[in-house]
Amino acid sequence: MGNCLGSSAKVDTAQSSHVTYASGVSKVSSRTSRSSAPSTLTIPSFSEKSNSSSLPTPRTEGEILSSPNLKPFSFAELKNATRNFRPDSLLGEGGFGFVFKGWIDENTFTAAKPGSGMVVAVKKLKPEGFQGHKEWLTEVNYLGQLHHPNLVKLIGYCLEGENRLLVYEFMPKGSLENHLFRRGPQPLSWAVRMKVAIGAARGLSFLHDAKSQVIYRDFKASNILLDADFNAKLSDFGLAKAGPTGDRTHVSTQVMGTHGYAAPEYVATGRLTAKSDVYSFGVVLLELLSGRRAVDKAKVGVEQNLVDWAKPYLGDKRKLFRIMDTKLEGQYPQKGAYTAATLAMQCLNNEAKLRPKMADVLATLEQLEAPKNSAALPQPEQHLFSVTHRKYPMRQHRSSLNPPPSASPLRSHRQSPRVH
Ligand SMILES: Nc1ncnc2c1ncn2[C@@H]1O[C@H](COP(=O)(O)OP(=O)(O)OP(=O)(O)O)[C@@H](O)[C@H]1O
Ligand SMILES: [Mg+2]
Repeated sequence: MGNCLGSSAKVDTAQSSHVTYASGVSKVSSRTSRSSAPSTLTIPSFSEKSNSSSLPTPRTEGEILSSPNLKPFSFAELKNATRNFRPDSLLGEGGFGFVFKGWIDENTFTAAKPGSGMVVAVKKLKPEGFQGHKEWLTEVNYLGQLHHPNLVKLIGYCLEGENRLLVYEFMPKGSLENHLFRRGPQPLSWAVRMKVAIGAARGLSFLHDAKSQVIYRDFKASNILLDADFNAKLSDFGLAKAGPTGDRTHVSTQVMGTHGYAAPEYVATGRLTAKSDVYSFGVVLLELLSGRRAVDKAKVGVEQNLVDWAKPYLGDKRKLFRIMDTKLEGQYPQKGAYTAATLAMQCLNNEAKLRPKMADVLATLEQLEAPKNSAALPQPEQHLFSVTHRKYPMRQHRSSLNPPPSASPLRSHRQSPRVH
């Protein structure tokens, strides 16, 4: 097969503070970790049977990679499956690298002729990608163990020399980001937006629940993938982190994430809790309501930051229409929109403790969809706007938001703006 599964680099799973990875610093350390040097990555282990009292157990890189749920692919196999990573198979590009469409046999999982067998998405780490080996391994670790209808399915991986790839189930409708902000696809209806919010909330609730206790840390529109029926699935677990255990209220870690989505207290202190994900959920809910990006440098003043701009309108029934996406053309239930806006406001509370839990967020959103509620909702109202919001393509890849002074400078085109 050619997969270097024999790596015995010990993965440190101690719940130590100030763990750094996937930053400019760990870019360097992840490179060196490709040798036999021990990795300093914190990667806890989970099992289906684990419960809230069970502590993560150490897993070596070899153990993570030998997960029975994952197929190790050779590079040659994935080259065949993607027609040699042909540009016309390209699905997208992120900070990690390029994502290609490929085909594998659904029974044997070997490369299949294009157009036959099962479609997969193959993510190929850029050799110069700053996110590196540690995020790659974190993703294999989490998605190799956590399974849920609202988490994207990892089928396998390839680790061969410098090549690191991940093979996922193919999500035919791509990312939420593409639908909300790119010109081309049909604008998403209100009902689909709520369906996506519910699916994503289910995924996050599952991660936060007592069994898994995982903080996702990179909740954003580009990481919400959509299947043919617009069921949402969370992808990209490279920044995921085990939640606090025992009496601890938070995990201390280097600030990582994407500008505009990361919770203010986390950016300021590096203290990470599940409520940081709740804040990010509030930002995405606002994106769903407004059709605007979390951060848009093409806009002027307060409008550059969606939360700052939208917050004053969220609690006011009569003003809410001012932030609603014009692409909805007024086709949304006023009461439902107000409930969703109020929920977004609660998620965006500057006081992390006052934000609702994801399970409560999910329950509120499900109420919005419940038949008894929808029957009682008023007819959609028509709101006409004279201003059209031009969207400029802007990439917002995750990065260290607050690297220490010693951090190697990240490439500017891959670096999200720092938060001050
Ligand atoms: N499983 C998949 N099925 C279909 N398309 C996918 C899949 N995974 C990724 N893509 C496409 O590839 C694009 C790039 O994904 P990727 O996760 O690498 O980057 P990103 O989320 O845009 O940025 P970041 O690196 O900051 O997470 C996505 O926006 C999506 O369009
Ligand atoms: Mg992504």
